[in-house]
Amino acid sequence: MKRTLLIVANPRRNSFSFAMAEQYKKLALAKGNEVDIIDLYREKYQQSFLVFEDATRREVTPAMKYYQQKITNAGELVFIFPYWWGSFPAILKNFIDWNFSRGFAFHYVNSKPEGLLKGKEVKIFATCGAPSFYYRITGAHSRLKNMFKKQIVKFCGMQLTTFMLFGGVDTHAKNTERILQKIKA
Ligand SMILES: Cc1cc2nc3c(=O)[nH]c(=O)nc-3n(C[C@H](O)[C@H](O)[C@H](O)COP(=O)(O)O)c2cc1C
Repeated sequence: MKRTLLIVANPRRNSFSFAMAEQYKKLALAKGNEVDIIDLYREKYQQSFLVFEDATRREVTPAMKYYQQKITNAGELVFIFPYWWGSFPAILKNFIDWNFSRGFAFHYVNSKPEGLLKGKEVKIFATCGAPSFYYRITGAHSRLKNMFKKQIVKFCGMQLTTFMLFGGVDTHAKNTERILQKIKA
């Protein structure tokens, strides 16, 4: 049985991000997966903005222990977020800064980094306000995908199997039902 961990970074509970998370959860449960969710803005453990002293401290905080246990248990990590300023929301970056820490997500062997989260699959579902083609022709789509893939996923020894950036999603969106069907596919 596969364990799915959904990591959602959206301040609005009634956002399209959560509609995608619900859709994914339903499909994963139907496949017999076990599903867990981290709702970054509403979790009981809120992690302060990481500062130099935090990054160099060796001790594992209770919040890190809580999140790292969830990451360890999961066979697949699914990140869901809105595209903000050409990237993902700062709360997700802070989550990665804190919890994909040295000694847990990677370490160094003869000065070379080695990922410690081998065997885990990563999927990304994101939405942006502008139409998808705009980010494809400007290269912004592949830039975000490659950054996530190389600097985070591969660095930690994991594998990126899905990256979808759905465009034209705003408060007036009429395409949301079609996108939910694409997640199913
Ligand atoms: C702080 C902020 C920054 C944003 N930056 C971008 C952007 O760089 N490009 C874009 O196309 N849309 C941008 N948007 C629009 C969001 O991507 C859009 O509202 C979101 O994808 C809608 O999905 P949701 O219902 O899941 O929040 C931004 C929105 C906010 C609030």
